[in-house]
Amino acid sequence: MPNLASTYLGLKISNPIIVASSGLTDSIEKIIELEVHGAGAIVLKSLFEEEIIMEMDEQIQNMTNRPFVYPETFDYMNEEPEEDTVRKYLRLIREAKAAVSIPIIASINCVSAQKWTYFAQEIEKAGADALEINLFVLPTDMNRTGDENEQIYYDVLKTVKEQVALPIALKISPYHSNLSNLIKRLDDMNADGIVMFNRFYSPDFDINTLRVTSGQILSNADDYKNSLRWTGIMSERVNCSLAGTTGIHTSESIIKHLLAGADAVQIASILYQNGPEYIDVLSKEIYAWMEEHNFKSIEDFKGKMSQSKSNDPAAFERVQFMKNFRNFVL
Ligand SMILES: Cc1cc2nc3c(=O)[nH]c(=O)nc-3n(C[C@H](O)[C@H](O)[C@H](O)COP(=O)(O)O)c2cc1C
Repeated sequence: MPNLASTYLGLKISNPIIVASSGLTDSIEKIIELEVHGAGAIVLKSLFEEEIIMEMDEQIQNMTNRPFVYPETFDYMNEEPEEDTVRKYLRLIREAKAAVSIPIIASINCVSAQKWTYFAQEIEKAGADALEINLFVLPTDMNRTGDENEQIYYDVLKTVKEQVALPIALKISPYHSNLSNLIKRLDDMNADGIVMFNRFYSPDFDINTLRVTSGQILSNADDYKNSLRWTGIMSERVNCSLAGTTGIHTSESIIKHLLAGADAVQIASILYQNGPEYIDVLSKEIYAWMEEHNFKSIEDFKGKMSQSKSNDPAAFERVQFMKNFRNFVL
């Protein structure tokens, strides 16, 4: 039987399929079921920076007017009888760690390196195996430069790394003026992993009611190409772990990411559609493919189709259809 084990963020995982941060991972019952069906690791549903700051501020207001948060704040909070969102989250980490043996990765959505970063210590104390930081600033402020926006990534990583010894992954968007430079700089700053790319809520229009509506929540099975391209381009250029996400719905797209050099993939939409048992199906198909190609472990084929090892490195950087598809007809 081939071995599906991989290493992600320095953590041993028995399967490269990680369940992405979402409503699929927000309760202990769901987490246990995901482990039963073979998930390699779980990324918990994100806490939001605002939630952390709001809870902290509420508690601090009762205690002191000082603008900074001290470790004692949490001792104080732990004495409070009512359980808030933040403490529920820490409890979920503790319960998950007690109930399952797969790595539990906490997740925080943030837009700044403000005072929430202290909370990383609480996550570490609760026993999480790693922290994934989901950072995105929609660049709508015309008075800010791209550099200023990107500086937030470096500030967050530096501040959080100073607070904890936990492995840190950055879940990023593809929307950067020089993506490879951003990823390389994060890698140079000892980010433990990059998750690419997050999928964002998109507004849509209803042309009958003339109202703004929600765009499609789940991804399509064809949406994985951007993540595949960038995994292939970056996997030989960085030391940190890489996980692909968005549009990974089939065993074929998982295998493609591993061939490009990913250490793991994160999936959500396909599990929303087919339930946690679909992890078994995907794993069996990966086993079958490995057996057919005589690969005994993920290491045997990981990165075999990264940019420089592939038969067509230029294809990874080809963006215009014009030259190659000039004579294309249907
Ligand atoms: C309903 C739903 C809720 C999500 N919630 C979060 C979240 O709290 N934090 C986060 O980082 N990503 C969140 N995501 C994004 C997923 O983690 C994942 O990166 C994205 O859906 C792409 O993977 P997929 O194509 O397999 O769905 C959510 C996705 C969905 C569909």
